[in-house]
Amino acid sequence: MRKLVISVAALSLLASVQSSSAEDLKAGADLFNDNCAICHGSKGQGYAKEVVPNGAVLIKKLAGDSAYWDFAVFKKAVLEGKDDENRSMKVMPVFGKAGLFEPPGKMLADADLKNIQAYMKSFGPKQ
Ligand code: HEC
Repeated sequence: MRKLVISVAALSLLASVQSSSAEDLKAGADLFNDNCAICHGSKGQGYAKEVVPNGAVLIKKLAGDSAYWDFAVFKKAVLEGKDDENRSMKVMPVFGKAGLFEPPGKMLADADLKNIQAYMKSFGPKQ
């Protein structure tokens, strides 16, 4: 009997861990789709120069690359517009200044950034 009680507790713990990470992925997906996918593609695939409408910029692929950057480096890229070599990016919005497109003006908390990066990992393995 005692064994049963323990395993039920373990199962419900497992279920709660799984459902909270699913919610985080959903939150990350919503933020990504509303704020990043327009430039980086819905799977973070980026666009080759020739398929960008005016051909002006090569939009960076995120899948398999910055999806796996250290969190601090990723955060700096999104909030400050600096890449992993600390160079100022030209087209990438500085989200830490203007806030998000959607919800408008919302500032990204660490938890939001972690959810976005977790969602980006679902696009594919590290390359
Ligand atoms: C207006 C288009 C645009 C939007 C919207 C945008 N980005 Fe970018 N992003 C770029 C471009 C273009 C680059 C490449 C650097 C440059 O030219 O600015 C880039 C670079 C990056 C990089 C660095 C990639 C690398 O390998 O160097 C990361 C990380 C990144 N973006 C994440 C995001 C996230 C997360 C969002 C949404 C919160 C987002 N971007 C929204 C255009 C955009």
